[in-house]
This record gives sequence, C-alpha cells and structure tokens, in this order.
Amino acid sequence: MSERKRVLVTGAAGYIGSGVCRRLLSAGFDVIGIDSLIYGATGLLPLLVTPRFRFVQLDIREYSRLQEQLNQIRPFAVVHLAAIVGDPACKKMPEVARQTNLAATKALFSAATENDSSRFIFA
Ligand SMILES: NC(=O)c1ccc[n+]([C@@H]2O[C@H](COP(=O)([O-])OP(=O)(O)OC[C@H]3O[C@@H](n4cnc5c(N)ncnc54)[C@H](O)[C@@H]3O)[C@@H](O)[C@H]2O)c1
Repeated sequence: MSERKRVLVTGAAGYIGSGVCRRLLSAGFDVIGIDSLIYGATGLLPLLVTPRFRFVQLDIREYSRLQEQLNQIRPFAVVHLAAIVGDPACKKMPEVARQTNLAATKALFSAATENDSSRFIFA
C-alpha cells in the first residue's frame, strides 16, 4: 500500500461499514477493512476491486491477531463498527454480543491508543 493515510474500519462488510469504506476511499484514504463476515461478504464485493482497499477476515475477539494488524498497519484512524447490532441479535447470542460489543471494543480502543491512533471513531 502507498504512503497515503490508512484508515482501519472494523465491521467493513456491514451496512454502515461498507458505506464508510466507500466514502473514505473516495476521500483519498487507503482503507483496511476487517470483518468476521457473520452475515457474508456481499457488502464488500464492490470494494474488493478497489486497489486502495484491503480486506482482512478477522474476529475482533482474537486480540492477538487484531494487535498484529494494528502493529502492521499503524492506522491514521480507526473506525470501529464491528458489533452485534440490535436487540434481537444481542438476545439471540448474548455472550458473543457482550464479548464483541464490550470486551473486544475496550481491547481495540486500548490497542489503538497504544499504537498512537489518536483518532478512534465509535458509532
Ligand atoms: N444501522 C444503523 O442505523 C445504526 C445506527 C446507529 C449506530 N449504528 C452502529 O453502527 C455499528 C454498525 O452497525 P451496522 O448497522 O453496520 O451493523 P451490521 O450488522 O450491518 O454490521 C456489523 C458488522 O460487524 C461484523 N462483526 C460482528 N461481530 C464481529 C466480530 N467479532 N469481529 C469482526 N466483525 C464482526 C459483522 O460481520 C457485520 O458485517 C454498530 O455499532 C451499530 O450499533 C448503526
């Protein structure tokens, strides 16, 4: 990837994430999208042909892999959108929702700030 500013987007295959990735690419950023693809990759398909977009399939609960990516990417900003979204989904898988929405979010925030990613956007 070039020396342009890199933005790491978690939940890149999601409803909001896929749109955010497109907007960031249009604005001239390099974008690294992370997602575990629990609902598939349809949202990502138009992005995969974009040279300044790179996708990493990763579950944000895998802290060591996530940390590895942050160390490699050293992003200018992190946009954190990976989540179990909405009451029905959270009720269906409460433990996964807690781990993802709370524990993994806190861990990502700590890891990002340790990596000097002072711009952390959380929806
Ligand atoms: N959709 C809305 O109207 C809306 C409004 C306000 C805030 N938000 C917030 O924006 C964020 C994204 O919402 P969305 O509507 O795009 O949801 P979405 O369900 O469409 O996308 C979430 C993405 O996160 C991924 N994901 C889930 N668990 C993961 C994990 N452990 N590791 C990696 N990826 C994982 C899923 O595969 C999915 O692609 C959420 O925090 C949500 O609360 C959404």
